[in-house]
Amino acid sequence: MNLAVFGTGYVGLVSGVCLANTGKKVFCIDINEDKLQKIKNGIAPIYEPGLEDLLKKNKDRIVPTTDARSAIQQAEVVMIAVGTPFDGQHIDLSYIKQAAKEIGQAVKEMDSYVVVTVKSTVVPGTTMDVVRPIVLEESGKSEDEIGFCMNPEFLREGNAVEDFKEPDRIVLGVSSERAEEVMRRLYDGFPETDVMVTNPTTAEMVKYTANTLLALNISYANEIARICETLEDVDSEDVFAGVIKDKRVSPIINGERITPKLTTYLRAGCGFGGSCFPKDVKALASFARDRKVDGKLLDGLLHINKSQMEHIFELGLKKHGGEAKKVAILGTAFKPDTDDIRESPGIRLAEFALERGMEVHVHDYKALENTKAEYGEKLKYHEEPLAAVEGADIVYVATIWDDYLQIADEAYEARMADGGVMVDCRSLYKNRAEQPWRVRVGVGKKKQNQNSEVYAD
Ligand SMILES: NC(=O)c1ccc[n+]([C@@H]2O[C@H](COP(=O)([O-])OP(=O)(O)OC[C@H]3O[C@@H](n4cnc5c(N)ncnc54)[C@H](O)[C@@H]3O)[C@@H](O)[C@H]2O)c1
Repeated sequence: MNLAVFGTGYVGLVSGVCLANTGKKVFCIDINEDKLQKIKNGIAPIYEPGLEDLLKKNKDRIVPTTDARSAIQQAEVVMIAVGTPFDGQHIDLSYIKQAAKEIGQAVKEMDSYVVVTVKSTVVPGTTMDVVRPIVLEESGKSEDEIGFCMNPEFLREGNAVEDFKEPDRIVLGVSSERAEEVMRRLYDGFPETDVMVTNPTTAEMVKYTANTLLALNISYANEIARICETLEDVDSEDVFAGVIKDKRVSPIINGERITPKLTTYLRAGCGFGGSCFPKDVKALASFARDRKVDGKLLDGLLHINKSQMEHIFELGLKKHGGEAKKVAILGTAFKPDTDDIRESPGIRLAEFALERGMEVHVHDYKALENTKAEYGEKLKYHEEPLAAVEGADIVYVATIWDDYLQIADEAYEARMADGGVMVDCRSLYKNRAEQPWRVRVGVGKKKQNQNSEVYAD
């Protein structure tokens, strides 16, 4: 089977490479020639563990191209994986519409049946009410000749290849049984998993609901943590440890307690970021408003997320006596094992510091290049974490890179300014609580004693 994928970003490239790995020939279409040249040379233009190896392994089946027409005309499935950024009011569908137009024009000259499948995250109704009419009108064909599918993607950046190769479910929102048959063949060669077949609009809603559920847990944990910070000797981690023992949350099966992964989202931190959660929650909130749904929950969780980042920034400032000249941010990627800095909390903290005229030094293991491309001279960049920390009044540890665990408190203290403080934004160092470090500020817990690191008021 041949597949054409529009967009070689995190979703498009990972999908294309993983599907090529199951024997399909994949045309990777993009308008960005630099990305395509890299792919041609066996270099992944984004960082994802395992992606480059898989790309090299399958290079004979992967065809990077700007020639969408020719790619589409050789494909049985055309997948749209272009960006859907939030424009402040709604998601911007211009890239989707452009892709749909090009697909329609190419399909016009085809004799064979083709399925147009949307992988991008789009608001309910987009596949059937936006993509379908454009493709049908441009091609002049009927739905007997073209199938439509909405196939949401659930991969997590930093784990994208593994997630795609071993999906926990495949959702196929199809317009016809014939489209379903083709889509099932696309996923031949994947380990057995739950396949949910539904209509495209339900599939679109599944994706938004899944992401907002995760974001909701994070904001809930952060709000509870803020309450705990006002209480003497209460650590929100202890609170949630007690909460999740409820057998409706963590059931006991055959004498063994099962703790769902979802509970790992119930942890205080500096809020969620990345290219999906903030955008998807905003998109669903505004979609709800457009439909006159009186919902406060989605707006509320966005508000908590925004204010949590401000709160974390203030925690450091307060512990340092209300002012600071030099700030270090350890981690500009929105999470470990990615180079993606979109809506990254580390970046947001850097922006707060810049707004106050502070000198900002940053470190990241994978995202420095992307950070530099966006912030240029405004920030100072370091390949080594301790070099970023040199002379810093406040150090914010914003991304849970495992390698930061290798750095001893003494090494930090030797490099920070006298009187410098650290904010452990995501409780990376929580296992060091046995030997509290007086300069560390935790999140979601109030000062326990004079020497404690768990200090938040
Ligand atoms: N990143 C994630 O973790 C993730 C997970 C699930 C779903 N999604 C969704 O998938 C979609 C893509 O996200 P992403 O992070 O991969 O985006 P991205 O910005 O990394 O990549 C999009 C790519 O599409 C290309 N493109 C734009 N217009 C094009 C056109 N007309 N023809 C060909 N290529 C074109 C761009 O050049 C870019 O390379 C979004 O809707 C996103 O919400 C993302």
